[in-house]
Amino acid sequence: MKKLVGFFSILSFAVFAAFLFIQATPDRITTANDLEFMQDAVPAKAMETGKAIYNGKGNCFVCHQPTGVGVPGVFPPLAKSDFLLADKKRAIVQTIYGSKTPITVNGVKYPGGIMTNVPMTDQEVVDVVNYTLNSWGNKGGVVTLEEVKAARKK
Ligand code: HEC
Repeated sequence: MKKLVGFFSILSFAVFAAFLFIQATPDRITTANDLEFMQDAVPAKAMETGKAIYNGKGNCFVCHQPTGVGVPGVFPPLAKSDFLLADKKRAIVQTIYGSKTPITVNGVKYPGGIMTNVPMTDQEVVDVVNYTLNSWGNKGGVVTLEEVKAARKK
């Protein structure tokens, strides 16, 4: 009988500890809710504006496709692009100026030079880059107006 009481007190302690752990976890690990919150770092309205530039004035969709998948070997993908997601500042420069040198995106080589760049305001660059960084499953963070201004000076 003593053994049984001991067993139950350990069991109830374990249940209590598990309860505490579950209560505490959302603060420490990335849950689905946290991911939603991170996406919200770019306000919905700014995402809309970015999307409109991507599929309109910026012409991005013509080459990179509305779904960001690109055309392998010709136009690199932006969706899940290791190149895009590795370096936000480089993404800004790429969006403003394009690139003349060959690059490798997700293991596929692109010859460089074909990207045409429509003149955009700094704010338009912010919105379209943030749209690409946070669309099609990308979780690439956020760029600021200051970062775009700094990229222009170079
Ligand atoms: C005429 C076709 C074309 C248009 C329009 C275009 N791109 Fe590109 N883009 C390319 C090509 C080609 C490359 C690869 C350049 C290289 O090889 O150096 C590229 C590369 C990129 C990259 C880096 C590589 C990657 O896939 O992550 C980013 C970011 C990018 N483009 C964003 C944009 C954005 C944003 C727009 C619209 C404002 C845009 N592009 C418009 C053709 C285009």
